[in-house]
Amino acid sequence: MLEKIIIHGGKPLNGKVKISGSKNAVLPIIVASILAEGESVIYDVPDLTDVHILKDILKELGAKITFENNVFRIDTRDVNCWEASYENINKMRASVLVMGPLLAKFNKARVAMPGGCAIGTRPIDLHLKGFESLGAKISLEQGFVSAISEERLHGGKIYLDFPSVGATENIMMAATLAEGTTVIENAAEEPEIVDLANFLNAMGASVKGAGTNVIKIIGTDKLHGAEHTVIPDRIEAGTYLIAGAVIGGNLVIENVISHHIKPVIAKLRDCGVDIEELDSSLIVRNAGNFKATDIKTMPYPGFPTDMQSVFSVLMCLAKGTSIITETVFENRFMHFDELKRMGAVIKIEGKSAVIEGVPSLSGCQVKATDLRAGAALIIAGLTCEGKTEVLDVYHVFRGYENIIDKLQGLGADIRLEV
Ligand code: EPZ
Repeated sequence: MLEKIIIHGGKPLNGKVKISGSKNAVLPIIVASILAEGESVIYDVPDLTDVHILKDILKELGAKITFENNVFRIDTRDVNCWEASYENINKMRASVLVMGPLLAKFNKARVAMPGGCAIGTRPIDLHLKGFESLGAKISLEQGFVSAISEERLHGGKIYLDFPSVGATENIMMAATLAEGTTVIENAAEEPEIVDLANFLNAMGASVKGAGTNVIKIIGTDKLHGAEHTVIPDRIEAGTYLIAGAVIGGNLVIENVISHHIKPVIAKLRDCGVDIEELDSSLIVRNAGNFKATDIKTMPYPGFPTDMQSVFSVLMCLAKGTSIITETVFENRFMHFDELKRMGAVIKIEGKSAVIEGVPSLSGCQVKATDLRAGAALIIAGLTCEGKTEVLDVYHVFRGYENIIDKLQGLGADIRLEV
């Protein structure tokens, strides 16, 4: 945990960078393999801390797993435990996604109530409301939440008060083995939901409407293992896009599905950044003096909350005043204190932040508070003449595969110091 990243910025980024498989698609897909009676093989799995945490959790539940060269093989025939420990849930909130598949497979699931995290309390009430509509009884005791159904789950109709990504995924997975049809209304529409649905259907499930706000799942008796290649990580792609815009040079970003980051591309073009879209790549050239703009984070297909902190670096260096409004999480502005130490001029007013562009930032010691804030601080450091040290970088390795190698390959003077 004492690792830090040392950056000597001011050097343009040139060359090609290949985007890895999506963290937020692969985590629910790996969990969904619990539903199968057999082995699944998942390709383009990014080598991330979160993937290793999930591997350990599933091994504890009885799964047999190998993970090498971005290929994740998992056989869940011997999964015999329906409980996830506090220690594991606390390592990674997304592990609450095991509830849906365990409930579907064993008619019961017991997981530690996930704590909040740096970006907000992040309750799971919508997940639990969905399980109740499928026939489960929910109880909370000793910090654990249990979902138990006396008999096989039945289909249900759920309206999500908020289009929660995790709740949509958890309910979708539970419904695949329920008796009858389930309809999720006001469902999340993120590309990661579509990728999960494609994997579930490859396993023999019947999931229709993923990517829209109404998803219909017709339950079946059993699912088999499947093979699947994970979609590219749209947030990693957006991160390198913004790096290319603020640090400049000529950057080719490969393995991108550009319509997954349409709002980010549109906003960058509003700022005057030159982006060329090829069929599976983006080319970004340094805009130099880009204009200020306003962003408001929204569920997909709106501007993604996961891009907010990285995009704010560009706004710190834009000409004029920008306003960021964060509507998805209640505490996702912590990177601003660190950026202000680098010379940014930012004023927080409730859910909004007002950013006055400055000609440049200056390197200093800063601390990552979550993985996207950490990525933002790395990009900010790459723009500065002089030295920047980013502490608590373990956050960044949760979501950005080989980020130091990738940036070094583009000409950045960046290294890890343990
Ligand atoms: C997923 O988190 C992503 N994580 C997040 O990415 C992403 O920021 C988020 O979706 C929104 O797009 C993974 O996919 C592993 P939500 P999730 O449920 O599922 C509230 C990253 O940086 N809510 O859509 O936890 C919640 O408090 C991470 O890669 C409820 O109130 O997000 C939050 O304010 C960060 N009750 C909002 O909804 C619930 O039952 C969005 O949460 C569930 C959620």
